[in-house]
Amino acid sequence: MRIESTCRLKFMMACAFLIAVCFGAAAKYTAARQKANDTRTEKALLDARKVSTELTNKVRELLLKELEKGSYEGAISVCANVAQDITRQFNEKSGHYVRRVSLGYRNPNDSPDEYERHKLESFDRLSREKKLESEYYEVVSEQGREYLRYLKPVIAGKMCLNCHGQPDEIPIGVQRIIQETYPNDHATGYREGDVRGAVSVKIALPSKTAK
Ligand code: HEC
Repeated sequence: MRIESTCRLKFMMACAFLIAVCFGAAAKYTAARQKANDTRTEKALLDARKVSTELTNKVRELLLKELEKGSYEGAISVCANVAQDITRQFNEKSGHYVRRVSLGYRNPNDSPDEYERHKLESFDRLSREKKLESEYYEVVSEQGREYLRYLKPVIAGKMCLNCHGQPDEIPIGVQRIIQETYPNDHATGYREGDVRGAVSVKIALPSKTAK
């Protein structure tokens, strides 16, 4: 009787040991996969941050320079051509996707897709509630492929109102050029601090493999 119960105890201990080993291995495997996935996202996130910061900083810096010179034409070209050049170069070089989007777009190429529209609407709400953060991102699945979607809100500063503010804040010369170039402009009427739009980045993640 006693021998039998010792055997049973040993057997149960062996089982517990085996279960613990299996769980440990599974946890390790999951952790390794998680790490590999995090590394993919981390890398994409760094790329997204880099290009969106470069785009907003460069446009702001060059705009300021042109406006200080009193050149509205030069400034218009910065907010259009310089921004378009930076996004095109990034897209060609990396094969990814970066662009400026806005609910009140001036250039129809900047109209948001469904995903971006929802985010921009939530940015307006969060901004009113004073809860807007400097960036938003998540990994989404589309037709079996994973993407990092990253959006950085672009806020209207005082100098932006020269071309995006209330009608009486926009110099006549600027109004004329805008009317000629963008007959369906939606990008006026903003106030300082409003969400003017966002830089949107979409990066396809490499497929999931633990290395
Ligand atoms: C001198 C005029 C001018 C100033 C100042 C200006 N913009 Fe623009 N902005 C434009 C023009 C023109 C476009 C259309 C760009 C294009 O065709 O790609 C534009 C487009 C944009 C877009 C892309 C979405 C859209 O409407 O097509 C964003 C975002 C934007 N501006 C933000 C800003 C911010 C933020 C500032 C201030 C830091 C600013 N702009 C200052 C003229 C200006």
